[in-house]
Amino acid sequence: MRRPILVANWKMNKTASEAQAFVEQLLPQIDAQQEIDIAIAPPFTALDRLGRTLGGSAISLAAQNVSAAGDGAFTGEVSVGMLVELSCRYAIVGHSERRALHGETSQEVARKAVALQAAGIRPIICLGESLREREQGRTLEVVGKALEQSLAGVKAEGSDALVVAYEPLWAIGSGRNATPEIAQEVHAFIRQHLVKQFGTVAESLCIQYGGSVDPENAASLMAQPDIDGALVGGAGLQPDSFAALIKITAESAG
Ligand code: 13P
Repeated sequence: MRRPILVANWKMNKTASEAQAFVEQLLPQIDAQQEIDIAIAPPFTALDRLGRTLGGSAISLAAQNVSAAGDGAFTGEVSVGMLVELSCRYAIVGHSERRALHGETSQEVARKAVALQAAGIRPIICLGESLREREQGRTLEVVGKALEQSLAGVKAEGSDALVVAYEPLWAIGSGRNATPEIAQEVHAFIRQHLVKQFGTVAESLCIQYGGSVDPENAASLMAQPDIDGALVGGAGLQPDSFAALIKITAESAG
């Protein structure tokens, strides 16, 4: 049985004080003990304050990106060591917005994931096809290639070594989520790929779905055998809807 993981990716939303206010509203609405892993990925500027506000709660800290390089002359970048000092448990790498808007390649994603793992931070490796690629019937080919390249050198010694997030581009921020059946088909394909690369430990790795997840559609998505939680954008920005998603995800674990 896999322990589902729910992560709110806030993207470029919320100042440090807004992040603190969010958590102060959220924590009273959720159980202190959880059957699931939960994390929030705020902008870098809110990581420190959010970490202090979360304290010893059931919610962990995640970064939205990281540099594959160590310290040095990399203006505007943030290193793995900086995330370690803030006690980040996860870091998202290869989000489609970074791939599309910042030219991030799967090779770079792999280097970032390897650097994170070396420091004990779990990479959340994102990938997914565009609408055009889906319409051309190329979804599995595109996802397979992204997996092969983004997982180069990545290790899976334990069930929490990494997370893969399947986020079809056409579902992100569109209000049009993948149907549970469509998502499951791709998740099962991703699982097969992970088994080929890592062996039986892949059965215990989490594969999250992302793309217009909300409290209305989350239960049916998470009822699928290979969907082990969600990476949420819009629905993770309000304490009430994120609390509802936590409850639904926990029910899917039970
Ligand atoms: P939405 O949930 O807003 O579609 O965003 C998904 C996403 O990109 C999470 O990383």
